[in-house]
Amino acid sequence: MTLTRDVRQRRKVEHVHAVQALGDPTGVSNGFECVSLVPCSAPEVAWDDVSLATELCGIRLESPILINAMTGGADEVYDINRKLAQAARRFGLAMALGSASAGLASPEVAYTYRVVREIHPDGVVIANVGMGTGLERARKAVELVRADLLQVHFNAAQELFMAEGDRDFRGALEALAEVARGAGVPVIAKEVGQGISAEDAVRFADAGVRAIDVGGLGGTNFIAVEAWRRGAEIDEFWNRWGLPTAASLCEVAAAVGGRVDVIASGGIRTALDVAKAMALGAKAVGIAGPLVRLVTQPNGEEQLNRFIEDLHVGLRALLVLTGCRNFSDLRGKPVVILGWLREWLEARGLK
Ligand code: FNR
Repeated sequence: MTLTRDVRQRRKVEHVHAVQALGDPTGVSNGFECVSLVPCSAPEVAWDDVSLATELCGIRLESPILINAMTGGADEVYDINRKLAQAARRFGLAMALGSASAGLASPEVAYTYRVVREIHPDGVVIANVGMGTGLERARKAVELVRADLLQVHFNAAQELFMAEGDRDFRGALEALAEVARGAGVPVIAKEVGQGISAEDAVRFADAGVRAIDVGGLGGTNFIAVEAWRRGAEIDEFWNRWGLPTAASLCEVAAAVGGRVDVIASGGIRTALDVAKAMALGAKAVGIAGPLVRLVTQPNGEEQLNRFIEDLHVGLRALLVLTGCRNFSDLRGKPVVILGWLREWLEARGLK
């Protein structure tokens, strides 16, 4: 669908307003309440020896926390990207930008994306395009921010609830394969809040992606975001449509964990959820909604810094308290899965 410049730019601003107004959905689980780590009372680990480093698509990350794709493409969001990039540099976080479509359509707003690379010249920066994007545009998106990685978001549910959204999803896997072959950087397939199944993970891996970001249910829900933009009411079940993040992570890791890196995202809010995700095999963990809500408050930079600092301190403590010096150690530790998630995995033949 061809969209005017104004529609694209306005949408980027409205997404931020919607996420601020809606907050996280209440009573919708990301699934990690069913997952437990086993505490270690005699850790034999020194705090100073603990490392939070990880590796994604062969690239070393100083922290497993990734600022996930949000914005770019309108003057009003420039400051958000500038402040997020400053936090990314300060804490050594990888940072994904919002969909490049607005920036590619209107060169006068390209500066709202480029600011991230300017502030964080040596950081790991991730470009983002939508499902069905062809190779030429994907390459331009990578060039726009001199990206190290490229996300391709699969967001069929969001499109269906967007008045101006796509209604024909044919050809997106073929386009993904072309992009994976020719983008020049490793490609990540990602959802935006409905999660990815084992079956789809195989289709994405077969298309040649190097990583999958599960983008599961339990946090920002773009069905609700798009309904908010239209002032529309949605049936309650739409708040629960999708695979909760922990279930999606287990599905994708079981199906293709040996072939591609897995990123956990969708409603991850605490150091404990990050540690559980890493123990289940994630290589990194994406967070989006809370970061934009914090950074747009009056003393937003301070609040954002404190949030990330607390996550890092919590993660170090959890590594010590499970007897680990790093995330490779943690992956070798027992993880207990109970409740509906255990039943789900059994029913799906994944446990
Ligand atoms: C997003 N997200 C997103 N994803 C994407 O692939 N391209 C995009 O342009 C955007 N835009 C966007 C704007 C805003 C304001 C938010 C909060 C989010 C989705 C995001 O990357 C992530 O997948 C979901 O938000 C789920 O993670 P959280 O928010 O529950 O941590």
